[in-house]
Amino acid sequence: MDDRDITGDLDRVLYSADEVAARLAELAAQIDADYAGKELLLVGVLNGAVMVMADLSRAMKSHVQMDWMAISSYGSGTQSSGVVRILKDLTTDISGRHVLVVEDIIDTGLTLSYLISNLLSRNPASLGIMTMFRKPEAARNAVEVGYVGFDIPNEFVVGYGLDYDGRYRNLTSVGTLSKHVYS
Ligand code: IMP
Repeated sequence: MDDRDITGDLDRVLYSADEVAARLAELAAQIDADYAGKELLLVGVLNGAVMVMADLSRAMKSHVQMDWMAISSYGSGTQSSGVVRILKDLTTDISGRHVLVVEDIIDTGLTLSYLISNLLSRNPASLGIMTMFRKPEAARNAVEVGYVGFDIPNEFVVGYGLDYDGRYRNLTSVGTLSKHVYS
């Protein structure tokens, strides 16, 4: 679906599908170059990173392997619950592997901090982070994110994998959700 299919639900479109694709192509080229000669394992964080993972991996020119983790973060609200736990673990042993975590969005960085310490304890050869969107609070914290699609304002956004209460993930663009939808 695109924003015309959900008229009134978005305050504004932040990035069109074309803008997202163009930025992803740049990141894919950068990741290809940075990991040249290495076998990379992309670790997608379910469910939000499904779209990013699918498009990033296909925009890359190198072989990559893919695995998935599911971690609890938000419930049906728009505030971080502070509860982080693994709902689905990797099937791959990442010891000695070059790993790049693929995230949809980093807000407080709570989810990511947990993920990083958890994955580092498994002794990967390297651990990088890629996120499509990053909010200001995360940009201020110490976690080093090597690849950022877009730094966005501190607003609740939906589309391109990002949901509100399970909806809007299949929206091709990304926009801010109107308050009337969740208040
Ligand atoms: P953090 O732990 O606060 O960084 O939250 C990260 C997770 O919260 C993401 O993986 C998303 O699932 C969710 N999230 C944070 N901000 C948004 C948003 O604006 N829209 C949709 N989901 C969000």
